[in-house]
Amino acid sequence: MQILFVCLGNICRSPLADGLLRKKVTENKLDVLVDSAGTAGYHIGEAPDSRMIATAKARNTDLSFLRARQFKASDFGIFERIYVMDTANLKNVLSIAKTEAERAKVSLVLDSIEPGMEVPDPYYGNQAGFDHVYDLLDEATTHIILKLKDGTL
Ligand code: 4NP
Repeated sequence: MQILFVCLGNICRSPLADGLLRKKVTENKLDVLVDSAGTAGYHIGEAPDSRMIATAKARNTDLSFLRARQFKASDFGIFERIYVMDTANLKNVLSIAKTEAERAKVSLVLDSIEPGMEVPDPYYGNQAGFDHVYDLLDEATTHIILKLKDGTL
């Protein structure tokens, strides 16, 4: 299984989902490729936002080794599941898809928890926003692990 998380900048939300799922995949001894990307190219090559790194580190999740990259059409050939953070990401990723099979790989990451729910962008907010994003993506990635283990993903 290959799983990609996508947000706008690939420095806040999707790196957190990426780091959380990598950690849980290792803990559960699963064989899964995990990566993340942004629909925008503003932060290519950068480490995650220092506030996101600190928020994750406080809860034993390392994000410091991740580097931002931009989502590209060829990602559809590599990843079986593409989880986006909000409806703007959904629209952008779907606009790059060429086939129905590619479109079927894409969904909101919180859809299985609360249909239609978005992970809010914490970039212009405060620490509470970063903690909230952590809680949401911690739950979402645990849900993904459960589905990987019972073979329903
Ligand atoms: P992300 O957050 O999409 O969760 O990585 C953002 C990061 C950067 C910007 C916007 C959102 N920005 O405008 O630079």
